[in-house]
Amino acid sequence: MMSLKKLAGASALAFVAAGAAQADKLTFYCSAQEDWCQLMANSFQDATGIDVAMTRKSSGETFAQIKAESSNPKGDVWWGGTGDPHLQAAEEGLTAEYLSPMRDQLHPWAIAQAESAGNKTIGIYSGALGYGYNSDLLAANNLPEPACWKDLLKPEYKGHVQMANPNSSGTAYTTLATMMQLFGEEEGFDFMKGLHKNINQYTKSGSAPIKAAGRGENTVGIVFMHDAVKQATSGFPVKVVAPCEGTGYEIGSMSIIDGARNMEEAKKFYDWALSPEAQNLALQVSAFQVPSNMSAETSPSAPDMSQIKLIDYDFKKYGSSDERKRLLKKWDDEVSTLPQ
Ligand code: G6P
Repeated sequence: MMSLKKLAGASALAFVAAGAAQADKLTFYCSAQEDWCQLMANSFQDATGIDVAMTRKSSGETFAQIKAESSNPKGDVWWGGTGDPHLQAAEEGLTAEYLSPMRDQLHPWAIAQAESAGNKTIGIYSGALGYGYNSDLLAANNLPEPACWKDLLKPEYKGHVQMANPNSSGTAYTTLATMMQLFGEEEGFDFMKGLHKNINQYTKSGSAPIKAAGRGENTVGIVFMHDAVKQATSGFPVKVVAPCEGTGYEIGSMSIIDGARNMEEAKKFYDWALSPEAQNLALQVSAFQVPSNMSAETSPSAPDMSQIKLIDYDFKKYGSSDERKRLLKKWDDEVSTLPQ
């Protein structure tokens, strides 16, 4: 029979082991492409033995979830998705400050994103906004090849254009904010209203419109150019457009959730996700963003940012809580309710 003392020791050990096993997990909120999210979750789990529970939701939706859970946080780390809602989360105190030892391996734009938010977020990739179209459908419908944003307002495109809803999708919010910066607020909203007439559906997720174009269910999808390139390199008849007026871009971001239950694991994930090895995983799933680690590889298929007319996107302004709320409300009130 085990002595009482031994028994106490054994149960203490069991307790420690159970405690350790319990701590070895990570609740991972992901706002990049589903296949990339899954690969990141599985690879981190394989590399560390930490059990990862991943949920993919669009950027605006994840922001709203983290906010709704803020009195009792359930997520640990939020990786991917456009930077604006990450910046808003930082401003609202929903994410935690962290200085990763990996920072000196990153491009200045990734660090600038962190510094503008008290180090409560950081850049993991960047990519330019644009659109793509299904060239077979375009020809079948006798439509001209669009090259500019304003081409998409032509009446012949009615029912042929799809974009996501800017409330749920970071891609669509980037579109809205880009129009404000390209054309000014008044003309920018006029553009969104004109576009509304041609929209066949506002999807929840940002890349859905170009996936639908790839499948032949939609003609033009307003998305990040790299999402359109993915369809083209997957063999679908999709052409990618860098609009002639110029365009905005995203700094895809990562943040640790304030009050994370698994803070150590969240930091481990964060450091790992900034490494070249983790960032190179993107290539396995045709994610053609520009990675933030200077030694990570960029695919030759990736849109060449130096050849695209990029605006000087004001992340501070369009990622601020007041401005994002104001623009979304104005879009809800003045654009989404218009008859088509
Ligand atoms: C796609 C893009 C990412 C972007 C994300 C935003 O996954 O590849 O670069 O960050 O969309 O998603 P959302 O659904 O919020 O527009």
